[in-house]
Amino acid sequence: MREALVSLKPELEQISADIDALFDTLLPPQPDTRATLYDAMRYAAIGGGKRLRPLLVVAACSLFHVDRTRALRVGLAVECVHVYSLIHDDLPCMDDDDLRRGKPTLHRAYDESTAVLAGDSLHALAFEIVADEQTHEDPFVRVELVAELARAAGPAGMAGGQMMDLMASKSALDLSAVTRLQQLKTGALIGFCLEAGAIMGRVPPEGRSKLRGYARDVGLAFQITDDLLDAEGEEIKTGKRVNKDRDAGKETFVSLLGPARARRQAELLVDQATEYLHSFGAEADLLRAIARFAIERDH
Ligand code: IPE
Ligand code: IPE
Ligand code: MG
Ligand code: MG
Ligand code: MG
Repeated sequence: MREALVSLKPELEQISADIDALFDTLLPPQPDTRATLYDAMRYAAIGGGKRLRPLLVVAACSLFHVDRTRALRVGLAVECVHVYSLIHDDLPCMDDDDLRRGKPTLHRAYDESTAVLAGDSLHALAFEIVADEQTHEDPFVRVELVAELARAAGPAGMAGGQMMDLMASKSALDLSAVTRLQQLKTGALIGFCLEAGAIMGRVPPEGRSKLRGYARDVGLAFQITDDLLDAEGEEIKTGKRVNKDRDAGKETFVSLLGPARARRQAELLVDQATEYLHSFGAEADLLRAIARFAIERDH
């Protein structure tokens, strides 16, 4: 199996700087009574997070020699959906969290109504970015991106998974139910990142199965690691409260398998994800490195 030869640190630093700069341009402070909304969006979106989803989009796009500026726009759109999902996930009616990315959650720093509107606005902004001509000159490509992002964010994707997650504290789920929940909650948006690369690279749907396999396994491994970090991680590194899943009585891979077997499962998934890339050469090294990072991270 080919091991990734790229170092992820400079890639993560570069993508973070790029995404921050794009958000800064797109969300200028406002002179009117919407000022608080824009400030809140900036507070949540700028200067935090691993930016793993934008990096996945850029990595997938580079397989097919898609221009980085365009790839970044799609990465920015996914990050908008992701940040919106975190803002709403933290609300008192959901996980009721007070710490995110190392600072007070948005509804704590501002208030709940502002947090709801900032989430709504980031959700909408994602589609505005993708639908813009600067993202791709071909309207058919843009509409496919819009449709796939909508599917990944909605009831058949992230929002549906969040609903299942709420039910997870009320009923006993088995491993296959937890797998399905995680695939929707976290996997769908990660899946979109790879799909977007294929769409921008004009790979027909029948040519996308390997990238889909990679995304499915990395997405699941990533969420298992999130659950492991919740059970065993350190708040100072994760930038969010720990032991939340246990306190909420939520079934996760960690509660069902125990941490050692959950970690082993995540490792197997990453090996499997890397296998899907075997027909690619050095151009897939970034994807290989991201897959490792998904489980080796401490934040
Ligand atoms: C946290 O996602 C929520 C999940 C879907 C697991 P990330 O771990 O990517 O959070 P940030 O963007 O780095 O803050
Ligand atoms: C949230 O999952 C996934 C989203 C779609 C936002 P978690 O509730 O486990 O995420 P954290 O641990 O709060 O980041
Ligand atoms: Mg949650
Ligand atoms: Mg949460
Ligand atoms: Mg979590």
